Amino acid sequence: MKILGIETSCDETSAAVVQNGVEILSNVVSSQVELHRPYGGVVPELASRNHLQLIDTVVAEALDRARTRFDEVDGVAATYGPGLASSLLIGLNAAKGMAVALSKPLIGVNHIEAHLYSPLLAHHAFDALPMVSLIVSGGHTILAHATAIGRHCILGQTVDDAAGEAFDKVAKLLHLGYPGGPEIDKLAKAGNPAAIAFPRSMLDDPSHNFSFSGLKTSVLYYLRKHSQPNVADVCASFQEAVVDVVVGKTIRAAVDTDANTVSASGGVSINSRFRDKLSAECGRRGLRLLLAPASLCTDNAAMIAALGFFKLQQGQCSDFALEVAPSVGLGVVP
Ligand code: KG4
Ligand code: ZN
Repeated sequence: MKILGIETSCDETSAAVVQNGVEILSNVVSSQVELHRPYGGVVPELASRNHLQLIDTVVAEALDRARTRFDEVDGVAATYGPGLASSLLIGLNAAKGMAVALSKPLIGVNHIEAHLYSPLLAHHAFDALPMVSLIVSGGHTILAHATAIGRHCILGQTVDDAAGEAFDKVAKLLHLGYPGGPEIDKLAKAGNPAAIAFPRSMLDDPSHNFSFSGLKTSVLYYLRKHSQPNVADVCASFQEAVVDVVVGKTIRAAVDTDANTVSASGGVSINSRFRDKLSAECGRRGLRLLLAPASLCTDNAAMIAALGFFKLQQGQCSDFALEVAPSVGLGVVP
């Protein structure tokens, strides 16, 4: 069964064809990073206009690369939320139109839930559940516990900024490029992670929640005091503080829930220091670690199509009255 997936929740226009929920036949992602770079962040009006201009071409390219005719598609899955309303509308409405034209089911997919299951897709490891999963991106920092596909609960989440947001804001303070995460990752390699003692907020808090706004403020104060900082040291020390917290809390969540598998997804999970530290900690404790390749960590339609397949298997197709839900959370499905 082939599912066409559509993702337009933020600034990537993406379409993919996935067979039987695991075989990625194509995953086309058109990034708008260059478009938004001059503004140092995503401009919603520009994003939606660009999605509108690109969506047809991106879908055609996805079908072409998958060697799949339009009428061979068995269902159309699209992100309905969370994300930017004007961006979500383009993908969801395009998906509705295609599902009507095909007389095939429409499957609305929660973007965070798709991130949660994307490491399973990457490793064809749907047997790895239950798992503790860290979703760490520009918009979210969530620790979830999943027992089966579609069955999960939230263990904790950020009480203020998302980790990726902190990377992007600190990069801005340092006048680095956008998006900031990859820039900090690169510069940190030449810096000393122990040079500056930035706070590890909520690391010792018994909850599984996170907080990153204090860390961002600490970097701001440090930069006010030091007019000519060693940028590599600031990057390495800031990154180390984020990584210590997210890795420490993920491992503790695995211990608290007796999970044998840990996974991570979302843009920040590409971070090289994060990957090294989480791999080492999981190795030490005999935990199975599933990390997705970068193409499945950042926003992509393959994860939407894959989860769409499983939703369809579970009889969860959507009504055509489905609306975009910009602020929907991951939700709890026991
Ligand atoms: O998952 P994603 O593409 O979009 C959202 O759903 O938010 O994540 C984008 C975020 C940005 O904040 C970006 O700075 C961050 O992921 N990011 C990184 C790295 N690559 C991307 N953060 C730290 N290190 C990286 N290597
Ligand atoms: Zn995302």
